Amino acid sequence: MAYKLLFVCLGNICRSPSAENIMNHLIAENNLSDRIICDSAGTSSYHIGSPPDRRMNAAASKKLGIQLRGRARQFEISDFRDFDLILAMDRENYQNILYLDSTGQYQDKVRLMCDFCSRYSFTEVPDPYYGGVEGFNQVIDLLVDACEGLLEHINNQKSLH
Ligand code: 4NP
Repeated sequence: MAYKLLFVCLGNICRSPSAENIMNHLIAENNLSDRIICDSAGTSSYHIGSPPDRRMNAAASKKLGIQLRGRARQFEISDFRDFDLILAMDRENYQNILYLDSTGQYQDKVRLMCDFCSRYSFTEVPDPYYGGVEGFNQVIDLLVDACEGLLEHINNQKSLH
């Protein structure tokens, strides 16, 4: 059975689709595409069905040469059961996810993305939506760091090779 990761932010058009696509890029580079599956979702319904934000896509394209794929969807309760690890981009996302876990039975599956950073000391992935280009570039840098740490974490737990 493949290990399933779900990346979650507010709108599912900036940070979480970037995390999903960067992680998929790393997974492909490491020949682990049949072992780890990624998806992303938003805690809000604001952008359901929308493609990733074009400013976010421009940053991913410029810094990593990747195109962001996917359409926004809202986080749903069944995601708790369906995914092995749920990565929240900021504390508000984290709280909003845990709030939906009324019995607390899934709380160990939910983590902050920046827990897996090693080069950056940020504790959250800042929301870039109302800011300038630098905010989008920073999201990419932070997520590359976190995704590398996350892949190492999963590898240590699961001995994927
Ligand atoms: P995301 O960014 O949560 O990283 O996808 C945002 C997207 C949309 C909004 C806020 C943040 N919004 O307020 O519509």
